[in-house]
Amino acid sequence: MEKKIAVIMGDGVGPEVTRQAIHVLNAVASQFNHYFHYEYGLMGADAIDKTGNPLPDATIELCLNSDAILFGAIGHPRFDNDPAATVRPEQGLLKLRKSLQLFANIRPVITYPSLQHLTPLKAKYLEGVDFLIFRELTGGIYFGNKTLSADGNMASDDCAYTKNEIERIAHLAFQAASQRKKKLTLVDKANVLETSRLWRKLVREMQGQYPDVSVDFLFVDNAAMQLILNPAQFDVILTENMFGDILSDEASVLTGSLGLLPSASVGNGSALFEPIHGSYPQAAGKDIANPLGSILSAAMMLDHFGLTVEAAKVKAAIQWTLDNGFVTKDIDPMNFYFTSTIGELVADLIQDKIPNELHSENIELRKSTII
Ligand code: IPM
Ligand code: MG
Repeated sequence: MEKKIAVIMGDGVGPEVTRQAIHVLNAVASQFNHYFHYEYGLMGADAIDKTGNPLPDATIELCLNSDAILFGAIGHPRFDNDPAATVRPEQGLLKLRKSLQLFANIRPVITYPSLQHLTPLKAKYLEGVDFLIFRELTGGIYFGNKTLSADGNMASDDCAYTKNEIERIAHLAFQAASQRKKKLTLVDKANVLETSRLWRKLVREMQGQYPDVSVDFLFVDNAAMQLILNPAQFDVILTENMFGDILSDEASVLTGSLGLLPSASVGNGSALFEPIHGSYPQAAGKDIANPLGSILSAAMMLDHFGLTVEAAKVKAAIQWTLDNGFVTKDIDPMNFYFTSTIGELVADLIQDKIPNELHSENIELRKSTII
């Protein structure tokens, strides 16, 4: 298979984790006889520094003409601490989502037994946790009309949704549920918001088309609580843009490390794959960030291409590194391996270069200076 992949490394740790995902994709290509061709584009603070624009037109063009997009991370503290900044890195990502019509953001949440000690929850609540969040990504309050009064004392952000915007993502969520545990949970605030009442009405009407899927409805405040109290009850969660943003960060806590979660953003054209963690500026350039979120995003890309055997091999390699204690600093602050070492290890596993009898002393271990 031959594919053209647009790569946007972005800000902070984005470049170093994305490099490892490419390393792994190259290992997959050589092991399974595929050809992945990469072209690079700018976005975020990096693009502002180089061009003055968080999303240059050339990047949109590149993405529109690619089979998929691999993206690193966005954001820089110098913008976060300056509410007056009119040009912001995040504008690049929002504009890219809108330009490519990436209307559905899919975030799988699974727990890894070897990481359960890292979560603040008791292990018994984490058994069997395996769900998908379908977050609407190109509508709602993120993209509604924004105002700020001339005297600066009043601001507003409109939240609007159309039937079409709701139905197209709801179809994807129903389809995913019917291939999984056949349960769809719509998260809304239908006791207060008109947009939520429209979501609820349309999802109810669509139920007849998916008779094998059972549907339930949760208010977002209750959903936030249920995610912690009983996360194993969920299969597919469907929700609007802002609620999905908040709940997906909350859900990431269940896995033990934010550094491990991948995501896919899909629409009608090329899809975008990115780890859900941010730019983590404190770690940038230190080779300590966890590359697994990015590598798992590359695995989601392989699944998206229909390369399911390849994707499964990447996921199995990752499982192996976790089970055998080859982890980055976020997981073990005392005995940890470099970002690049983990990437190489996963790539070697995919190419069957790691013998059964592994000599871990041959793999460079970075010991903490604390002990
Ligand atoms: C995310 C992020 C973005 C969002 C930011 C960076 C604009 O938090 O992808 O979840 O709010 O959508
Ligand atoms: Mg977010």
